Parts: sequence; C-alpha cells; structure tokens
Amino acid sequence: MRIIEVGPRDGLQNESVPVPTEVKSRFVSALFQAGLKEIEVTSFVSPKWVPQLGDAAELLAMLEPGPITSVLVPNQKGLERALECGVKRIALFTAASDAFTQRNINMTVRQSLDVFKGLAESFRAAQPDGWIRGYVSTAWECPYAGRIAMTQTVSVATELIAMGVNEVSIGDTIGVAAPTEVKALTKLLLAEIPAEKLAMHFHDTRGTAIANVAASYELGIRAFDSSASGLGGCPYAKGAGGNLATEDLIYFLEREGIATGVNQLKLAQASLEVLSTLGKVPTAKAQIAALAAASEQ
Ligand code: HMG
Ligand code: MG
Repeated sequence: MRIIEVGPRDGLQNESVPVPTEVKSRFVSALFQAGLKEIEVTSFVSPKWVPQLGDAAELLAMLEPGPITSVLVPNQKGLERALECGVKRIALFTAASDAFTQRNINMTVRQSLDVFKGLAESFRAAQPDGWIRGYVSTAWECPYAGRIAMTQTVSVATELIAMGVNEVSIGDTIGVAAPTEVKALTKLLLAEIPAEKLAMHFHDTRGTAIANVAASYELGIRAFDSSASGLGGCPYAKGAGGNLATEDLIYFLEREGIATGVNQLKLAQASLEVLSTLGKVPTAKAQIAALAAASEQ
C-alpha cells in the first residue's frame, strides 16, 4: 500500500496567501513524522503561473532528510532547476484533454508528450536511479471539454509508460467521477498497464473520492494520492475542489483492516500551522474527528 501525500504541492498551489518556506518545511516534516513516506513537496513550474511555489529550490534546501520527495516538472527549464537541486523523483504532468493542457501548461497533449520524452531521457541520463511519475489529468472529465473518452485516457497513460515513466497517476482533477466509471476506466488501464505502475489521484469536490478509492482498490490498485486536510485544487481547472483528504483516506484504509503505518492524530495535527497561516480551519471529516477525540482525553 502506497500513499503519496501531495498536500505541500497540490494542496498549496491554489492558495493565494503566501505560505513562508519555513512553514512549508515544517509541514513536510510533520507529515513525515506522522508516518507518510512519499511526499510531493513542490513544483518547478513558472513562478509567474504559480507564485505560491516560487520558493521550490529554497524549500528543498531546507527540508530535513527522511521522506521520499518528488517535484512537478513541466518543461526543460523546470528540469534544469530541479536537477540543480539534486532532485531524484520528478513528476511530468499532462492530461487527457487538450483544452486543459493548453490552459495548464500552454501545450497540447501531443506537444506535452513530445516534450516529456526528451525530459525523461535527460532526467535518466542525469539520475540513472531516479523515479519518474506521469500524471494524466482530466481522466474522466475536463472542465472545458466535458466528458473524456476512456480510450483517450488509456492512450495517454500507455504512451507515458512507453517512454519509461515508473508509474502513472490517473487524475480526477475536478472530482466528478463515481465508482462505476472509475471501475470501467481502471479495468481498461489494467488491460495495458500493471497495477504496480498505476496510482489514483482523486479530488473530493463532490464527496465521491473514498467510494472511488474503494472501487479501484477492489480491482487491485494499491497507490493513492491525497492531501492533508483535503487542501488543494488546480488553478487552471475551474471548479476543482480539494483533494481527497489524507485523514479520510487513512481512516478508511485502517478501518478496513489495511495497515498504513500512519499515526492518525499526528496526521490530523500536521497541517494545523499551514491552515492557520491560510486563515482556514480543518474541514476534513476524519481530521476533525481525530482532533475532537484528542481534545476530550
Ligand atoms: P509559458 O509562459 O508558455 O512558458 O508557460 P515559456 O516557455 O514561454 O516561458 C515564459 C517565461 O517563463 C520565460 O521567462 C521562461 O524562462 C519562464 P522570461 O524569458 O519571460 O523571463 N519559465 C520558467 N521559469 C521557471 N520555471 C519554469 C519555467 N518555464 C518557463 N519551469 C509553463 C509554460 C509550463 C512554464 C507554465 O504553463 C507553467 O508553469 N504551468 C504550470 C501550471 C501548474 O503548475 N498547474 C498545476 C499543476 S497540474 C495539477 O494540479 C493536476 C494534478 O494535481 C493532477 C490532477 O489533479 O489531475 C497534477
Ligand atoms: Mg490534483
């Protein structure tokens, strides 16, 4: 079972209140102390597009050793910046929809795959033991183009695998999918890609994320992305709500008898400083419950 915590990246990229780098660094440490081993910490994207993550290099220099960290890379410039920092895990991100990738990275899906092929080769040359994740956003539906043909998502995912990425994360970017369609797409993906190379990335905009985890778990998926306190969204996906909250995911898995190694109280507390910096309060259900239970003791 792998949980990929994306709170410091997906959780913060949509927030306009600047979060100081030290607060981000403490957030990553607290997530690791809670038992999360894989953490997507930031993005080497254009600071003009995503000002919140403009401190990527400073953050990496500040992080304490421990977690397996990864970063988003959109282009050659991003790769160069990441390699200067000695990054060993990168995530290349495209989508099943041209309308979305145009707005998100200013490329068509085809252009992005061509660019990524070169980036993957350069990264492998620089970091032979490195790890590459590929994201396929808008896997079920695009906020601009509507429903996506499942064959389109499968074709982008298989092309990423063919260029040598270690895994593909399938994104319900705007949190619209429900279990029947999740199962349908997962089955098609599994016909082409082994389960160990697939992760699911659900946003919980409409409260279907846990049901979608259960549906894809049943089919053999064992890697899920989530964000502490359900922070998150995508600035270039109108209507993208928060990510599946890590607290809700861990509670669900543990209660189902699937060990995660994560301490639920420590996890519930891990995002509190970030939330207060943003002027927010916890909204993830299992987080609220864990904090309430602890305050009664
Ligand atoms: P562009 O404007 O087309 O870039 O943006 P450009 O190549 O034309 O360059 C313009 C300027 O930006 C130049 O500077 C470049 O040097 C600079 P100037 O000469 O004007 O001074 N530049 C950069 N600076 C720093 N780092 C870079 C970089 N690249 C160019 N990497 C670009 C193209 C890809 C850069 C832009 O569109 C971008 O940064 N997009 C990122 C958007 C983003 O982060 N979206 C959120 C992540 S995706 C997501 O959330 C979905 C996911 O969670 C899964 C799911 O939920 O489905 C992963
Ligand atoms: Mg996302």
